[in-house]
Amino acid sequence: MTDLKWWQKAVFYQIYPRSFADANGDGIGDFQGMTSHLDYLKSLGIDALWLSPHFPSPFIDCGYDISNYVDVAPELGTLDDFKLFLDEAHQRDIKVILDLVLNHSSDQHPWFIESRSSRDNPKRDWYVWKDGVDGNPPNNWMSCFGGSAWKYDPATEQYYYHFFLTEQPDINWRNPEVKQALWDAVRFWLDMGVDGFRLDAIGTIFEDPALPDHTSKYSQFELYKAFRFAETKEEREKYAPHWEAMFRYQVEQPGVHELMQELRSIIDEYDDRLLVGEDDNIEYYGDGNNELHLAFNFPLMRQPGRLTSDWIRANQKERLSELPPGAWPCNTLNNHDSTRVYTHFGDGKNDAPLARLSLALMLTLRGTPFLYNGEEIGMTDYMLEDIRQFWDTPAIWLYNMAVDEMGVPAPEALQLAAKSSRDRCRTPLQWRNAPNGGFSPPGVETWLPVNPNYAEGINVAEQLDDPKSLLNFYKEMLNMRKRTPALIAGDYEPLHNEAEDYLAFLRRSEEQNCLVVLNFSENHQNINFDLETSAINVIFSSQERESEIDLEKLSLAPFEIFIAELA
Ligand code: NOJ
Repeated sequence: MTDLKWWQKAVFYQIYPRSFADANGDGIGDFQGMTSHLDYLKSLGIDALWLSPHFPSPFIDCGYDISNYVDVAPELGTLDDFKLFLDEAHQRDIKVILDLVLNHSSDQHPWFIESRSSRDNPKRDWYVWKDGVDGNPPNNWMSCFGGSAWKYDPATEQYYYHFFLTEQPDINWRNPEVKQALWDAVRFWLDMGVDGFRLDAIGTIFEDPALPDHTSKYSQFELYKAFRFAETKEEREKYAPHWEAMFRYQVEQPGVHELMQELRSIIDEYDDRLLVGEDDNIEYYGDGNNELHLAFNFPLMRQPGRLTSDWIRANQKERLSELPPGAWPCNTLNNHDSTRVYTHFGDGKNDAPLARLSLALMLTLRGTPFLYNGEEIGMTDYMLEDIRQFWDTPAIWLYNMAVDEMGVPAPEALQLAAKSSRDRCRTPLQWRNAPNGGFSPPGVETWLPVNPNYAEGINVAEQLDDPKSLLNFYKEMLNMRKRTPALIAGDYEPLHNEAEDYLAFLRRSEEQNCLVVLNFSENHQNINFDLETSAINVIFSSQERESEIDLEKLSLAPFEIFIAELA
């Protein structure tokens, strides 16, 4: 245990800054709000925070369109507010990593404003500019957020490339000056003491310079509907290759690993900092030591519907066997781009016990877990009911496309948009059973509406007072993990590979051996473990248990979480 790095032992918590805590009562979260809730996070048992972008931004992609890499969005506070937040977090032994968006800037970044001003501007080459072909875009590449990836700029009669929104022009990483400018920004935050970065969209940093057309035979809208909303694994698998074919020349191109190695060497000049890749591609671990320290295991959270033991076992088998030697896994079940864990892995009937199982899974699998703000109280997705409430631009695009181009009736298009919209998981944190969920003062219009289910017990204050609440369960489990070295440092050995209803595995470290059994079904399980052990000490069980445990006749209650130390 002692030779593990802080980020191998830590449990991370993602803060979506606009929605976490609003101290100045303007309907938008801010740094003072974050600072004043650090004690809450500490008592929850959180060790490290990842902040979604906190930089100045026109907010067309909710902060992932940065107009200044070395400052703080004024609505969130000042650089001094940030420094105070960082300092207060460090005083509580909480690390802080930031979001680093390298693929693109905002079109309002002064660099791009200069770049687009004339063909011979010194910053022209900081972005990707090309001539059109016979009055059309340079090729048929698509933006992953909808429509062509090329935007014509009449001022200089060329197209610029954007993998995401038109307001997010791609940076030309082949230009050494812009690279230097971004490395300077990286050093700016490292010098200030931040503990690392979560890297946004690195897979799209380079594109094929020959600009070949893609050959996908489906329209983007068809693929969007079929692939993004796939209800089953089979459906997803059917369309996944077409989705990949559409973006073949725009992702995972040569050069990106060398660039990550360069970034890693900068990070390594500093003491003990961290790089986490958004992209789940295992190759970003490099040789295990020369690129990113962590890359999210997203395939785990892509299970449609309830988690099953088969899915998890297959995921772990594949993921762990692919990791290069020495590399450390990293698991998550939700974030600001996905559906919330309570909604996604619930079934409408057993949501509460299923949410507890999801947490247990995160805290017992091998690797660093990332939690997302609000999951600790069981916040759910919130379906917006009026297109004017939406912030998430791709969802608005989908709505307009459905209504204008495909003739889909508006109510149906709204449902489609609400379901796909990332706004659904970004609503303000519900602090109390009070107007606006206690996030902002009564009467203030919050930037996204607060989910009204704060009045149904889904709020921090009420759950703190209820010993049986999900929040107190989070606290208990997070604290249990800290005391249980095998869950942090241990290896992972799956047991009972054929079991359909429950997941069982061993975690074994130098100090300790643990057995973990998670019953994902609503039925009792009678399990026979043939394990050599002289003593069994139950570390955690979600059920009342007698002190005598017989592993050969282990009876698990529906949805039970069982963790025992084997001596
Ligand atoms: C991934 C981020 O998580 C997402 O929110 C964003 O829209 C895209 N990258 C583009 O930056």
